[in-house]
Amino acid sequence: MKMYTIKRKRFLKNIILESILPPYEVDEAYEEELIGEFQNGVERTYFDHFIKLVGLNGFILDLACGDGRHTLRLSEKMRYVTALDLSSKQLYKARIKCQLKENISFIRGSMFNLPFREKIFDGIWLSQAFEYVPPDMRDRFIEYIIGILKSGGILFMSVETWLYPSFLKSIKNFMKDFMLYLYWKFLKRKPLLWGEYLYKLTVNDGYTIYHYHVHTDKRTLLKPVKKHKLKILDLDLHDGYIYILYRKYYT
Ligand SMILES: C[S@@+](CC[C@H](N)C(=O)[O-])C[C@H]1O[C@@H](n2cnc3c(N)ncnc32)[C@H](O)[C@@H]1O
Repeated sequence: MKMYTIKRKRFLKNIILESILPPYEVDEAYEEELIGEFQNGVERTYFDHFIKLVGLNGFILDLACGDGRHTLRLSEKMRYVTALDLSSKQLYKARIKCQLKENISFIRGSMFNLPFREKIFDGIWLSQAFEYVPPDMRDRFIEYIIGILKSGGILFMSVETWLYPSFLKSIKNFMKDFMLYLYWKFLKRKPLLWGEYLYKLTVNDGYTIYHYHVHTDKRTLLKPVKKHKLKILDLDLHDGYIYILYRKYYT
């Protein structure tokens, strides 16, 4: 048991540099450039709803902003956007994309070690990055981001999942995740928790890494509701993602 805890701690310590950041730090196009501004109509609808709920005067945190595809749009609608990402390459792209905007500041940093004081943001936009939050770091992470949200503030997340509106497709994806989990945990002896998996990714001409992702389900996203006094305003399943909007109760 103790050995497992040490292995897990070591795994978590190395995961970002070894298995998360590399594809974001290479020169070549990664997925953000390929998927364009909005990935689909559901993401667009959630974006519009988020803007409406926060109001035009909002101070927004675009957390794990990537190449800034949403940062630019958020800055067109909101008073001020703080965009944070761990990858300097992605931030560089975001800065170029947003160079004409004066109401944005960019920060290089980790979402697990944020430099903000309590209750300063009207809205937090967390798009396609929850797959990099390991299950045993979730509670602390959610507690912190809810803490920096003002009372009445809005949190948007799009979260990778094995769930689909179709029951059969969900079972198929669940089994796929389960097999991957068994493979990595028992054959490759990685100290993984349920939902976590690695997949082979070729970055920069033949250099291969095992990229880390974690999948989540609806129940996991409902858990913080009671604990952190949140209300779910909207929730949808679409194409391997859960889209969710929370409001923090006035306290
Ligand atoms: C799939 S991209 C999503 C980017 C953007 N939010 C979007 O929807 O286009 C995931 C981003 O998370 C960033 N990231 C991963 N781990 C992070 C961490 N610990 N802190 C901050 N950013 C992180 C990566 O650098 C990458 O830019």
